[in-house]
Order: sequence, then C-alpha cells, then structure tokens
Amino acid sequence: MATILAIESSCDETSASICKDGEILSNIIATQAVHHKYGGVVPELASRAHQQNVIPVVEDAISTAKINKKDIQAVAFTRGPGLLGSLLVGTSFAKGFALARNLPLIEVNHMHAHILAHFIDDPRPEFPFLCLTVSGGHTQIVLVRDYFDMEIVGETNDDAAGEAFDKTAKILGLPYPGGPLVDKLAREGNASAFSFPEPQIPGLNFSFSGLKTSILYFVRDKKKADPDFLKNNMTDICASVQHRIVTILLKKLKQAARQYHVSHVAIAGGVSANSGLRQYLQDMAAEENWQVYIPAFQYCTDNAAMIAIAGYYKYLRGDFTGQDISPLARMNF
Ligand code: KG4
Ligand code: ZN
Repeated sequence: MATILAIESSCDETSASICKDGEILSNIIATQAVHHKYGGVVPELASRAHQQNVIPVVEDAISTAKINKKDIQAVAFTRGPGLLGSLLVGTSFAKGFALARNLPLIEVNHMHAHILAHFIDDPRPEFPFLCLTVSGGHTQIVLVRDYFDMEIVGETNDDAAGEAFDKTAKILGLPYPGGPLVDKLAREGNASAFSFPEPQIPGLNFSFSGLKTSILYFVRDKKKADPDFLKNNMTDICASVQHRIVTILLKKLKQAARQYHVSHVAIAGGVSANSGLRQYLQDMAAEENWQVYIPAFQYCTDNAAMIAIAGYYKYLRGDFTGQDISPLARMNF
C-alpha cells in the first residue's frame, strides 16, 4: 500500500502525478511553449521553465488527487536519460521534498517508464512482450521479460523516429514540435503520392538520417521547378513521409517478433500517438496474430503518471535510492 508523488522533467514537459496503490489519481503536465519560436527545445530555457513550473505542478497534482501532502509515502523522479539541466530541477525537487518529509526516494529510468505506462490501465501486457519505444530522442525495440527485466534488441544508429518527424516538419516549414502536425496533415493526404527510400540496415537496427536528407533534396528540387510545389502538395508529402517512417518501424518490429517468437506487442513514447503507426500496427497484428497494446494518448508523450507507475513497482520491491544520487543525461538501460 503506497501513495507516491512522481516528478518528470527530462525534456520540455514539467509533470507531476500521484499514484495510490498502482492507481493514477492525477497527472498534471505543463508544456513549455517558450521553445516554439526556436524550432526546437532550448536546454537553458527548459531548465528555467521547469524551475518556474515544478512547484505549481506538484501542488496541482496533490489537490487534483484530493490527498494531503502528509499522505505521500515515497517520491519517484526521472533520473535520466534527458537534458541534464532539466533533470537536475526534478531530481533536486524530489530530493528536497523527500528530505523534508523523511520519505524514501525512487529513481526511474525514463525509457523504462514509457514502457511501464502500459501497466497504468487495462489491458496490461502479458510477459514476455516486445515494445517499440519511439520518442523524440530514442527508437528502440525492447524485449520485456518482466517489469525491470528488459533488453534492447534493436535501436537507431542515428536519428530517432520522432526526430525524423520533427525534422521533416522543419523542412516543410511547419512549427515545432512537428510530429503531431505531420500526422494531422497526413490524414488528408495520399500516402503513395511520393516514394521515399527505405534504408537497408541489417538486423533489428534502424536509420533515419538518410530519409531526412532525401526529403531535403526532394523538396529543394521540386521547389526549383515549381515555387508553389510545397503549398500544393503538403498533405501528400506528409502522408508519404509518415508512410515511410511507419513502414521502416513496423518491418523491424515484425522481424523481431518472429525472431524472438513473441506475439504480444506494444508501442510506447511520443510517436506512438501517431495515427498512421497505430493503424498500420493494428493491420499487422491481424496478419501476424499479435495481441497489441496501444497506450492512451495522454500516456504516449512525456508525463509523470508513467514515472509514478514505474515508481510503484520499485516501491513494492523496496528498491530505493539515497540522497547522494545525481541525474544522468545518458543512462544505462
Ligand atoms: O516521448 P516524447 O514526449 O519525448 C521524448 O522523450 O522524446 O516524444 C516526443 C516526440 C516528438 O518528436 C514529437 O514530434 C513526437 O514525439 N510526436 C509525434 C506525434 N505526437 C508526438 N510524432 C508523430 N505523430 C504524432 N502524433
Ligand atoms: Zn519520453
């Protein structure tokens, strides 16, 4: 039995959640609009915004959960991976709160938490399952044998899938973060209008940097011939690029499922909100006889509920950390 306060501050969302005995009572997220005009996350500005947001977000999480501060029995926080300055704000807050109230501290790996978000609501996946974790910084196929027994069996050699979406959006002149906008425009477009190359990477790894370059040259050449090309073909370009990113991801996921003889398959991370990925995954599941797990939208992108649920499973194991802990921009899986 435990009531846990969880803090997430690895990138540009400041989030706090309260979890009671594995049930999420609140999940408050402050998104930082300050980065939009720069076309990407500015680390220094992110740290400052976390510093401003963290206390109001925690207060909101506590009042939304209708609990008192004194009911909190442990504090979970994202130790990494992420932007160091951003992680420092959440880590310092968690340490201060735990020290003041004499509570145990629980460190959480952000990438584990994206996967464990599947244990917030039913249907909860059966072990072992494969999880395709696709975010702004990572693209991984993970073999999940148990809550904390996970192995990366495939990952990107260069850009992450979310970066591929965001960089495409930038080339097309769309504002940051571009992934959701490309998704929205793609819904109106024809996915076979243009053909973008598929990288030939052996094994279960990915590469997205070649795709970015090919989109850049494609747009440059087409614009030379017709200055209105972009304007007149935006939805078809978005649909075609999204189709390519999704087919690259799912081809490797299918290969992994066959290689590891696993038929329970999940997706996680910001890009798992993508409508194309969700649809193609359902289609592939029907063909391959998979049981698939697709997270609710609010648990795809960064949030503290996933940190809380990961913290809860660590709490049950008595897996606590000391006050001497520091965050890690890069963190072993
Ligand atoms: O997991 P996340 O919130 O943060 C990281 O840990 O990186 O993922 C953010 C990424 C961004 O690249 C964003 O563009 C992408 O997820 N994203 C999407 C969609 N929603 C978020 N990409 C494609 N389609 C979407 N609907
Ligand atoms: Zn994330």
